Amino acid sequence: MGQAHCIPILVVVLRVLYSSREVLKTIILQSPAELELLCSLVLKPSMDVEEIEVVWKKENETIKNDRIFKNESKNSWCSRHEVNVTTRDQLGSYTCVYKTKPEEVNSTFHLQVPEPHGKSERIISYVGDFVVLACLVGSETHQYNPSSWVWYTKNGSEQVAINTTLMPEKYTITQEHANMTKLKIMGLSEEDTGVYSCEAVFPLGARKGEVSLKVLTYMTPLKPFLAIAAEVVLFVAIIFAYEACTKKKEFQVEEVEKEFEQTETLKTEDSNGVENSTRQRKV
Ligand SMILES: *[C@@H]1O[C@H](CO)[C@@H](O)[C@H](O)[C@H]1NC(C)=O
Ligand SMILES: *[C@@H]1O[C@H](CO)[C@@H](O)[C@H](O)[C@H]1NC(C)=O
Ligand SMILES: *[C@@H]1O[C@H](CO)[C@@H](O)[C@H](O)[C@H]1NC(C)=O
Ligand SMILES: *[C@@H]1O[C@H](CO)[C@@H](O)[C@H](O)[C@H]1NC(C)=O
Ligand SMILES: *[C@@H]1O[C@H](CO)[C@@H](O)[C@H](O)[C@H]1NC(C)=O
Ligand SMILES: *[C@@H]1O[C@H](CO)[C@@H](O)[C@H](O)[C@H]1NC(C)=O
Ligand SMILES: *[C@@H]1O[C@H](CO)[C@@H](O)[C@H](O)[C@H]1NC(C)=O
Repeated sequence: MGQAHCIPILVVVLRVLYSSREVLKTIILQSPAELELLCSLVLKPSMDVEEIEVVWKKENETIKNDRIFKNESKNSWCSRHEVNVTTRDQLGSYTCVYKTKPEEVNSTFHLQVPEPHGKSERIISYVGDFVVLACLVGSETHQYNPSSWVWYTKNGSEQVAINTTLMPEKYTITQEHANMTKLKIMGLSEEDTGVYSCEAVFPLGARKGEVSLKVLTYMTPLKPFLAIAAEVVLFVAIIFAYEACTKKKEFQVEEVEKEFEQTETLKTEDSNGVENSTRQRKV
Protein backbone atom coordinates (compact mmCIF):
# COMPACT_ATOMS: atom_id res chain seq x y z
CA MET A 1 0.00 0.00 0.00
CA GLY A 2 3.12 2.21 -0.18
CA GLN A 3 2.13 3.79 -3.53
CA ALA A 4 -1.51 4.16 -2.55
CA HIS A 5 -3.10 7.39 -3.67
CA CYS A 6 -4.60 9.17 -0.71
CA ILE A 7 -7.02 11.79 -1.88
CA PRO A 8 -8.81 13.61 0.90
CA ILE A 9 -12.42 14.17 -0.09
CA LEU A 10 -14.70 16.51 1.76
CA VAL A 11 -18.35 15.75 1.36
CA VAL A 12 -20.90 18.19 2.62
CA VAL A 13 -24.49 17.23 3.02
CA LEU A 14 -26.95 19.93 3.85
CA ARG A 15 -30.42 19.25 4.97
CA VAL A 16 -33.32 20.87 6.68
CA LEU A 17 -34.74 19.35 9.78
CA TYR A 18 -37.91 17.35 9.46
CA SER A 19 -37.86 16.92 5.76
CA SER A 20 -38.53 13.22 5.59
CA ARG A 21 -36.41 12.57 2.51
CA GLU A 22 -33.33 10.46 3.15
CA VAL A 23 -30.16 11.93 1.70
CA LEU A 24 -27.87 9.54 -0.07
CA LYS A 25 -24.45 10.26 -1.47
CA THR A 26 -22.44 7.78 -3.51
CA ILE A 27 -18.67 8.03 -3.45
CA ILE A 28 -16.79 6.08 -6.11
CA LEU A 29 -13.29 4.98 -5.12
CA GLN A 30 -10.88 2.86 -7.12
CA SER A 31 -7.88 3.08 -4.80
CA PRO A 32 -7.25 3.73 -1.10
CA ALA A 33 -8.23 7.19 0.09
CA GLU A 34 -8.52 9.24 3.25
CA LEU A 35 -12.06 10.53 3.45
CA GLU A 36 -13.66 13.08 5.66
CA LEU A 37 -17.39 12.54 5.72
CA LEU A 38 -19.26 15.59 6.86
CA CYS A 39 -22.89 15.84 7.80
CA SER A 40 -24.44 19.20 8.36
CA LEU A 41 -27.90 19.81 9.72
CA VAL A 42 -29.49 23.22 9.38
CA LEU A 43 -32.10 23.94 12.02
CA LYS A 44 -34.83 26.51 11.74
CA PRO A 45 -33.74 29.57 13.78
CA SER A 46 -36.95 29.27 15.78
CA MET A 47 -35.83 25.96 17.19
CA ASP A 48 -34.23 26.28 20.55
CA VAL A 49 -31.85 23.34 20.79
CA GLU A 50 -28.93 23.22 23.22
CA GLU A 51 -27.20 20.10 21.98
CA ILE A 52 -27.64 17.21 19.57
CA GLU A 53 -26.29 13.71 19.76
CA VAL A 54 -25.05 12.25 16.45
CA VAL A 55 -24.46 8.55 15.98
CA TRP A 56 -22.33 7.30 13.08
CA LYS A 57 -23.05 3.84 11.75
CA LYS A 58 -21.19 1.55 9.39
CA GLU A 59 -23.95 -0.51 7.75
CA ASN A 60 -26.10 -0.93 10.86
CA GLU A 61 -23.41 -0.96 13.51
CA THR A 62 -22.60 2.09 15.61
CA ILE A 63 -18.99 3.19 15.11
CA LYS A 64 -18.97 6.60 16.77
CA ASN A 65 -20.96 8.87 19.08
CA ASP A 66 -20.67 12.60 18.62
CA ARG A 67 -22.22 15.45 20.57
CA ILE A 68 -22.65 18.93 19.11
CA PHE A 69 -23.28 22.00 21.29
CA LYS A 70 -25.13 25.14 20.37
CA ASN A 71 -22.10 27.35 21.16
CA GLU A 72 -20.12 25.67 18.37
CA SER A 73 -22.84 25.08 15.83
CA LYS A 74 -23.85 28.53 14.51
CA ASN A 75 -27.10 26.90 13.43
CA SER A 76 -25.26 24.52 11.15
CA TRP A 77 -24.86 21.39 13.21
CA CYS A 78 -21.82 19.65 11.77
CA SER A 79 -20.54 16.22 12.54
CA ARG A 80 -17.58 14.64 10.81
CA HIS A 81 -16.17 11.19 10.50
CA GLU A 82 -12.79 10.34 9.04
CA VAL A 83 -12.25 7.06 7.26
CA ASN A 84 -8.90 5.86 6.04
CA VAL A 85 -10.14 3.53 3.33
CA THR A 86 -7.41 0.98 2.70
CA THR A 87 -9.31 -2.33 2.45
CA ARG A 88 -12.50 -3.44 0.76
CA ASP A 89 -14.38 -4.11 3.99
CA GLN A 90 -14.15 -0.38 4.68
CA LEU A 91 -16.33 0.22 1.64
CA GLY A 92 -20.06 0.18 2.16
CA SER A 93 -22.47 2.56 3.80
CA TYR A 94 -21.75 5.15 6.48
CA THR A 95 -24.70 6.90 8.09
CA CYS A 96 -24.88 9.86 10.43
CA VAL A 97 -28.02 9.77 12.56
CA TYR A 98 -29.05 12.99 14.27
CA LYS A 99 -30.93 12.09 17.44
CA THR A 100 -33.31 14.99 17.07
CA LYS A 101 -36.80 15.02 18.54
CA PRO A 102 -39.47 14.07 17.80
CA GLU A 103 -37.94 12.50 14.70
CA GLU A 104 -34.40 11.35 13.98
CA VAL A 105 -32.84 12.42 10.70
CA ASN A 106 -29.99 10.80 8.83
CA SER A 107 -27.77 10.89 5.74
CA THR A 108 -25.91 8.02 4.17
CA PHE A 109 -22.68 7.81 2.19
CA HIS A 110 -22.18 4.82 -0.07
CA LEU A 111 -18.53 4.06 -0.69
CA GLN A 112 -18.07 1.77 -3.67
CA VAL A 113 -15.68 0.87 -6.47
CA PRO A 114 -16.63 1.87 -10.03
CA GLU A 115 -19.21 -0.31 -11.74
CA PRO A 116 -18.40 -1.68 -15.17
CA HIS A 117 -21.13 -2.15 -17.78
CA GLY A 118 -21.55 -3.97 -21.06
CA LYS A 119 -20.96 -1.82 -24.14
CA SER A 120 -24.16 -3.44 -25.40
CA GLU A 121 -26.19 -5.18 -22.75
CA ARG A 122 -27.80 -7.62 -25.18
CA ILE A 123 -26.16 -9.28 -28.12
CA ILE A 124 -27.67 -11.67 -30.66
CA SER A 125 -25.56 -13.93 -32.83
CA TYR A 126 -25.83 -17.14 -34.81
CA VAL A 127 -24.69 -20.71 -34.45
CA GLY A 128 -21.25 -21.20 -36.01
CA ASP A 129 -20.37 -17.48 -35.90
CA PHE A 130 -18.10 -15.74 -33.42
CA VAL A 131 -19.04 -12.81 -31.22
CA VAL A 132 -17.20 -10.11 -29.27
CA LEU A 133 -18.62 -9.01 -25.91
CA ALA A 134 -17.21 -5.76 -24.56
CA CYS A 135 -17.30 -4.19 -21.12
CA LEU A 136 -16.04 -0.81 -20.04
CA VAL A 137 -15.82 1.28 -16.93
CA GLY A 138 -15.97 5.03 -16.46
CA SER A 139 -16.94 7.84 -18.79
CA GLU A 140 -15.39 10.83 -20.53
CA THR A 141 -15.47 12.75 -17.27
CA HIS A 142 -14.64 9.93 -14.83
CA GLN A 143 -11.80 7.72 -15.95
CA TYR A 144 -10.89 4.61 -14.05
CA ASN A 145 -8.17 2.06 -14.56
CA PRO A 146 -8.93 -1.36 -13.13
CA SER A 147 -5.81 -3.37 -12.40
CA SER A 148 -7.33 -6.39 -14.15
CA TRP A 149 -10.50 -7.90 -15.57
CA VAL A 150 -12.08 -11.34 -15.19
CA TRP A 151 -14.85 -12.73 -17.40
CA TYR A 152 -17.37 -15.19 -16.01
CA THR A 153 -19.83 -17.48 -17.70
CA LYS A 154 -22.70 -19.26 -16.00
CA ASN A 155 -22.74 -23.01 -15.66
CA GLY A 156 -26.20 -23.64 -14.29
CA SER A 157 -26.49 -21.23 -11.39
CA GLU A 158 -22.75 -21.15 -10.76
CA GLN A 159 -20.46 -18.47 -12.16
CA VAL A 160 -17.26 -19.88 -13.61
CA ALA A 161 -14.24 -17.72 -14.44
CA ILE A 162 -13.26 -18.09 -18.10
CA ASN A 163 -9.70 -19.32 -18.41
CA THR A 164 -8.53 -18.64 -21.98
CA THR A 165 -5.41 -20.77 -21.61
CA LEU A 166 -7.64 -23.78 -20.94
CA MET A 167 -9.89 -23.15 -23.97
CA PRO A 168 -7.92 -21.05 -26.47
CA GLU A 169 -9.98 -22.30 -29.42
CA LYS A 170 -13.17 -21.08 -27.73
CA TYR A 171 -12.30 -17.83 -25.92
CA THR A 172 -9.90 -14.91 -26.43
CA ILE A 173 -9.71 -11.92 -24.11
CA THR A 174 -8.22 -8.66 -25.39
CA GLN A 175 -7.68 -5.29 -23.86
CA GLU A 176 -6.64 -2.09 -25.63
CA HIS A 177 -7.06 0.28 -22.69
CA ALA A 178 -7.28 -0.58 -19.02
CA ASN A 179 -10.87 0.71 -18.99
CA MET A 180 -12.16 -1.82 -21.51
CA THR A 181 -12.13 -5.58 -21.97
CA LYS A 182 -13.31 -7.73 -24.87
CA LEU A 183 -14.26 -11.39 -24.81
CA LYS A 184 -14.32 -13.14 -28.17
CA ILE A 185 -16.32 -16.37 -28.23
CA MET A 186 -15.74 -18.58 -31.25
CA GLY A 187 -17.69 -21.44 -32.78
CA LEU A 188 -20.97 -20.36 -31.19
CA SER A 189 -23.57 -22.95 -30.32
CA GLU A 190 -26.97 -22.48 -28.72
CA GLU A 191 -25.43 -23.56 -25.39
CA ASP A 192 -23.38 -20.33 -25.40
CA THR A 193 -26.62 -18.40 -24.83
CA GLY A 194 -26.60 -16.83 -21.38
CA VAL A 195 -25.39 -14.04 -19.15
CA TYR A 196 -21.67 -13.20 -19.10
CA SER A 197 -20.17 -11.10 -16.33
CA CYS A 198 -17.14 -8.89 -16.62
CA GLU A 199 -15.46 -8.15 -13.33
CA ALA A 200 -13.25 -5.10 -12.97
CA VAL A 201 -10.66 -5.58 -10.24
CA PHE A 202 -9.48 -2.46 -8.41
CA PRO A 203 -7.00 -2.15 -5.54
CA LEU A 204 -10.00 -1.62 -3.26
CA GLY A 205 -12.22 -4.38 -4.56
CA ALA A 206 -13.97 -5.79 -7.57
CA ARG A 207 -17.31 -5.24 -9.21
CA LYS A 208 -19.21 -6.95 -12.00
CA GLY A 209 -21.14 -5.82 -15.06
CA GLU A 210 -23.23 -8.03 -17.33
CA VAL A 211 -23.73 -8.78 -21.01
CA SER A 212 -26.35 -11.20 -22.19
CA LEU A 213 -25.83 -13.25 -25.32
CA LYS A 214 -28.45 -15.03 -27.37
CA VAL A 215 -27.32 -17.51 -29.98
CA LEU A 216 -29.86 -18.28 -32.69
CA THR A 217 -29.87 -20.97 -35.34
CA TYR A 218 -30.28 -19.67 -38.89
CA MET A 219 -33.77 -21.16 -38.87
CA THR A 220 -34.84 -18.92 -35.98
CA PRO A 221 -34.76 -15.61 -37.92
CA LEU A 222 -36.61 -17.38 -40.77
CA LYS A 223 -39.45 -18.26 -38.41
CA PRO A 224 -41.06 -14.79 -38.39
CA PHE A 225 -40.63 -14.71 -42.18
CA LEU A 226 -42.33 -18.07 -42.53
CA ALA A 227 -45.08 -16.87 -40.22
CA ILE A 228 -45.57 -13.81 -42.43
CA ALA A 229 -45.60 -15.97 -45.56
CA ALA A 230 -48.25 -18.18 -43.95
CA GLU A 231 -50.25 -15.09 -43.03
CA VAL A 232 -50.07 -13.80 -46.59
CA VAL A 233 -51.35 -17.11 -47.94
CA LEU A 234 -54.16 -17.05 -45.39
CA PHE A 235 -54.97 -13.44 -46.22
CA VAL A 236 -55.14 -14.16 -49.95
CA ALA A 237 -57.41 -17.13 -49.23
CA ILE A 238 -59.65 -14.90 -47.11
CA ILE A 239 -59.83 -12.33 -49.91
CA PHE A 240 -60.89 -15.01 -52.40
CA ALA A 241 -63.49 -16.34 -49.99
CA TYR A 242 -64.74 -12.81 -49.32
CA GLU A 243 -64.94 -11.97 -52.99
CA ALA A 244 -66.86 -15.17 -53.68
CA CYS A 245 -69.29 -14.29 -50.90
CA THR A 246 -69.75 -10.64 -51.87
CA LYS A 247 -70.38 -11.64 -55.48
CA LYS A 248 -73.26 -13.79 -54.29
CA LYS A 249 -74.49 -10.96 -52.11
CA GLU A 250 -74.15 -8.41 -54.94
CA PHE A 251 -76.23 -10.68 -57.04
CA GLN A 252 -78.89 -10.86 -54.35
CA VAL A 253 -78.72 -7.12 -53.81
CA GLU A 254 -79.15 -6.46 -57.51
CA GLU A 255 -82.20 -8.68 -57.48
CA VAL A 256 -83.67 -6.82 -54.54
CA GLU A 257 -82.83 -3.46 -56.10
CA LYS A 258 -84.52 -4.47 -59.28
CA GLU A 259 -87.62 -5.51 -57.37
CA PHE A 260 -87.46 -2.24 -55.43
CA GLU A 261 -87.14 -0.21 -58.61
CA GLN A 262 -90.06 -2.03 -60.03
CA THR A 263 -92.27 -1.28 -57.04
CA GLU A 264 -91.09 2.35 -57.14
CA THR A 265 -92.06 2.70 -60.73
CA LEU A 266 -95.33 1.05 -59.95
CA LYS A 267 -95.90 3.47 -57.10
CA THR A 268 -95.06 6.52 -59.19
CA GLU A 269 -97.30 5.29 -61.86
CA ASP A 270 -99.95 4.80 -59.21
CA SER A 271 -99.49 8.25 -57.79
CA ASN A 272 -99.37 9.66 -61.24
CA GLY A 273 -102.59 7.96 -61.83
CA VAL A 274 -104.02 9.42 -58.65
CA GLU A 275 -102.68 12.87 -59.43
CA ASN A 276 -103.93 12.61 -62.87
CA SER A 277 -107.27 11.53 -61.61
CA THR A 278 -107.43 14.37 -59.07
CA ARG A 279 -106.29 16.80 -61.67
CA GLN A 280 -108.89 15.40 -63.88
CA ARG A 281 -111.42 15.92 -61.13
CA LYS A 282 -110.21 19.48 -60.57
CA VAL A 283 -110.42 20.27 -64.14
C1 LIG B 1 -26.84 -5.75 10.98
O1 LIG B 1 -27.50 -6.45 9.94
C2 LIG B 1 -27.09 -7.78 9.78
C3 LIG B 1 -27.83 -8.37 8.62
O2 LIG B 1 -28.07 -7.41 7.65
C4 LIG B 1 -27.35 -8.55 11.06
O3 LIG B 1 -26.86 -9.87 10.92
C5 LIG B 1 -26.67 -7.87 12.23
O4 LIG B 1 -27.03 -8.52 13.43
C6 LIG B 1 -27.09 -6.42 12.32
N1 LIG B 1 -26.33 -5.73 13.37
C7 LIG B 1 -26.89 -4.86 14.20
C8 LIG B 1 -25.98 -4.22 15.19
O5 LIG B 1 -28.07 -4.56 14.17
C1 LIG C 1 -19.60 24.67 24.37
O1 LIG C 1 -20.29 24.28 25.57
C2 LIG C 1 -19.92 22.99 26.05
C3 LIG C 1 -20.80 22.64 27.24
O2 LIG C 1 -21.72 23.65 27.53
C4 LIG C 1 -18.44 23.00 26.45
O3 LIG C 1 -18.06 21.72 26.92
C5 LIG C 1 -17.63 23.36 25.23
O4 LIG C 1 -16.27 23.48 25.56
C6 LIG C 1 -18.10 24.69 24.62
N1 LIG C 1 -17.41 24.90 23.35
C7 LIG C 1 -16.92 26.06 22.99
C8 LIG C 1 -16.26 26.13 21.64
O5 LIG C 1 -17.00 27.03 23.69
C1 LIG D 1 -4.11 5.83 6.22
O1 LIG D 1 -3.53 4.56 5.99
C2 LIG D 1 -2.28 4.62 5.32
C3 LIG D 1 -1.86 3.19 5.05
O2 LIG D 1 -2.19 2.35 6.10
C4 LIG D 1 -1.26 5.37 6.19
O3 LIG D 1 -0.04 5.50 5.49
C5 LIG D 1 -1.83 6.75 6.47
O4 LIG D 1 -0.96 7.44 7.34
C6 LIG D 1 -3.19 6.64 7.11
N1 LIG D 1 -3.74 7.97 7.28
C7 LIG D 1 -4.36 8.32 8.41
C8 LIG D 1 -4.88 9.72 8.45
O5 LIG D 1 -4.49 7.57 9.34
C1 LIG E 1 -32.71 6.97 8.13
O1 LIG E 1 -33.97 7.60 7.95
C2 LIG E 1 -34.90 6.81 7.23
C3 LIG E 1 -36.18 7.60 7.05
O2 LIG E 1 -36.10 8.87 7.54
C4 LIG E 1 -35.16 5.50 7.96
O3 LIG E 1 -36.04 4.69 7.20
C5 LIG E 1 -33.86 4.76 8.15
O4 LIG E 1 -34.07 3.59 8.91
C6 LIG E 1 -32.85 5.64 8.87
N1 LIG E 1 -31.57 4.95 8.92
C7 LIG E 1 -30.87 4.82 10.04
C8 LIG E 1 -29.59 4.08 9.95
O5 LIG E 1 -31.25 5.30 11.13
C1 LIG F 1 -10.63 4.77 -21.75
O1 LIG F 1 -9.26 5.07 -21.71
C2 LIG F 1 -8.79 5.74 -22.86
C3 LIG F 1 -7.28 5.88 -22.73
O2 LIG F 1 -6.91 6.23 -21.43
C4 LIG F 1 -9.50 7.08 -23.00
O3 LIG F 1 -9.08 7.74 -24.17
C5 LIG F 1 -11.00 6.86 -23.07
O4 LIG F 1 -11.68 8.09 -23.07
C6 LIG F 1 -11.45 6.04 -21.87
N1 LIG F 1 -12.85 5.75 -22.03
C7 LIG F 1 -13.71 5.75 -21.02
C8 LIG F 1 -15.14 5.43 -21.35
O5 LIG F 1 -13.36 5.97 -19.87
C1 LIG G 1 -20.72 -27.43 -15.61
O1 LIG G 1 -20.97 -28.09 -14.38
C2 LIG G 1 -21.09 -29.49 -14.53
C3 LIG G 1 -21.48 -30.05 -13.17
O2 LIG G 1 -21.15 -29.20 -12.14
C4 LIG G 1 -19.77 -30.07 -15.05
O3 LIG G 1 -19.89 -31.46 -15.22
C5 LIG G 1 -19.44 -29.41 -16.38
O4 LIG G 1 -18.16 -29.86 -16.83
C6 LIG G 1 -19.42 -27.91 -16.25
N1 LIG G 1 -19.22 -27.33 -17.56
C7 LIG G 1 -18.33 -26.37 -17.80
C8 LIG G 1 -18.26 -25.85 -19.19
O5 LIG G 1 -17.61 -25.92 -16.91
C1 LIG H 1 -5.81 -21.21 -16.28
O1 LIG H 1 -5.46 -22.54 -16.43
C2 LIG H 1 -4.05 -22.76 -16.40
C3 LIG H 1 -3.80 -24.24 -16.69
O2 LIG H 1 -4.56 -25.08 -15.87
C4 LIG H 1 -3.50 -22.36 -15.05
O3 LIG H 1 -2.11 -22.54 -15.05
C5 LIG H 1 -3.82 -20.88 -14.83
O4 LIG H 1 -3.42 -20.50 -13.54
C6 LIG H 1 -5.31 -20.65 -14.97
N1 LIG H 1 -5.55 -19.22 -14.93
C7 LIG H 1 -6.44 -18.67 -14.11
C8 LIG H 1 -6.57 -17.19 -14.19
O5 LIG H 1 -7.10 -19.35 -13.32
